[in-house]
Amino acid sequence: MDFETKNGHLMWDGCDTVALAQEFGTPLYVFSQTMIEEKCQELQRDFVEKYDNVRVAFASKAFSTLAMLKIIEKQGFSLDVVSDGELYTAVKAEFPAAHIEMNGNNKSIEELEMAIDYGVGRIIIDSLQEVALIAAIAKEKQRVVDILFRITPEVNVQTHSFISTGQKDSKFGIPIDEAILFPQIKQAIETPEVNFLGFHFHVGSQLFDNEAHLAAVGIALDLVRLVKERFDYTIKELNFGGGFGVRYTDADQPKPFSYFTDPMMAQVLAFCEEEQFPQPAIVIEPGRSIVAEAGISLHKIGAIKELPGLRKYVSIDGGMTDNIRPGLYEAEYTGILANKADQPAAETVTVSGKACESTDILVKDIELPTVEAGDIFATFSTGAYGYSMASNYNKLAIPAVVLTNDGQAECIVKRQTLDQIIQNEEIPSFLK
Ligand code: LLP
Repeated sequence: MDFETKNGHLMWDGCDTVALAQEFGTPLYVFSQTMIEEKCQELQRDFVEKYDNVRVAFASKAFSTLAMLKIIEKQGFSLDVVSDGELYTAVKAEFPAAHIEMNGNNKSIEELEMAIDYGVGRIIIDSLQEVALIAAIAKEKQRVVDILFRITPEVNVQTHSFISTGQKDSKFGIPIDEAILFPQIKQAIETPEVNFLGFHFHVGSQLFDNEAHLAAVGIALDLVRLVKERFDYTIKELNFGGGFGVRYTDADQPKPFSYFTDPMMAQVLAFCEEEQFPQPAIVIEPGRSIVAEAGISLHKIGAIKELPGLRKYVSIDGGMTDNIRPGLYEAEYTGILANKADQPAAETVTVSGKACESTDILVKDIELPTVEAGDIFATFSTGAYGYSMASNYNKLAIPAVVLTNDGQAECIVKRQTLDQIIQNEEIPSFLK
């Protein structure tokens, strides 16, 4: 991994990470605003400014905090939310409602009401009951809701099966089946409380190959043609989801956004020209690729256990509770000792977490300088799905989050206190 050092310490966005660990404590998530904005600028240059009528919607599940949503809003990007909590965070960040897109395969009535009350820009239908539900709520509130259908494009992707979503046997999306999708489309066209805009798909996550995206774009465009033929209805918007891969270790070779977006747009533009079709709005929904590499985690090394001839475990003061990805998806990470950043490797160790779970191993067999208690281990590329999937297992507190910007650092999420961990708990009267 590429990184800068100063006085033997890992530097992150102009900040000394060892000093950050001292000031804010560990475990600590550190996010570089500069690096997030660099990714956004790449999207601006190679997608938003390059093509007409296109948008980026940040998938907030990757990292949803008030400060992050401010960064996204400043870019003029839209926001994908999938729950009342993600929508609430957007509302509290004063994110423009018209730029919010609500996904989710099981939105509750309360969530739909909240979304319609707030006036979100799009609701993406992902179940067969939803058009009727939205219509009923919209009628009562005298609103018309812009909708898209999330379709299951039935493409297989090269990624961990746990983060693959576009295949036929999936809980996500509506199958492209005459008997299932077409009655939905007819209903949407005929329902005055909804404005049917088009289709959405998301094929999977952490992809390095554009094949699945391009196959799915072809399938979506076929549907655009079919909807015109069957219903004399013009599709106005297509959402191609996210899924663009990032570098977790040096083995990963991520591609620039344009590797995905240029051929997808070429396909759309060729289709529109051939069919004499007005170009629909094209939306992409990246999450991971905007924030993953901008984030690192800092942990303090504690217990060290050497099993001669077998393995040396070095334990950190967090683990699967702040990064469940290794345990859940066998995700690989790499890192360095932030306070010995210039020192050569001297031993091979396994970095383990402190949760009572055998799968709580952060990095297996990593070469580090001689590890001592008190060293700070920095894990790279933990910006996406780390904080957002953190838990209180073993009643461990959720760590603080710091945002850096060219030498400045401020806390954007305070460390959870022990009182906060139990603040909603009560002892029932019959136990007192
Ligand atoms: N849009 C939709 C509808 C999605 O379901 C997702 C991710 C995204 C966009 C953003 O995908 P991204 O660009 O981040 O790949 N927790 C897993 C990832 C789950 C992704 C679920 N959906 C992980 O840590 O790998």
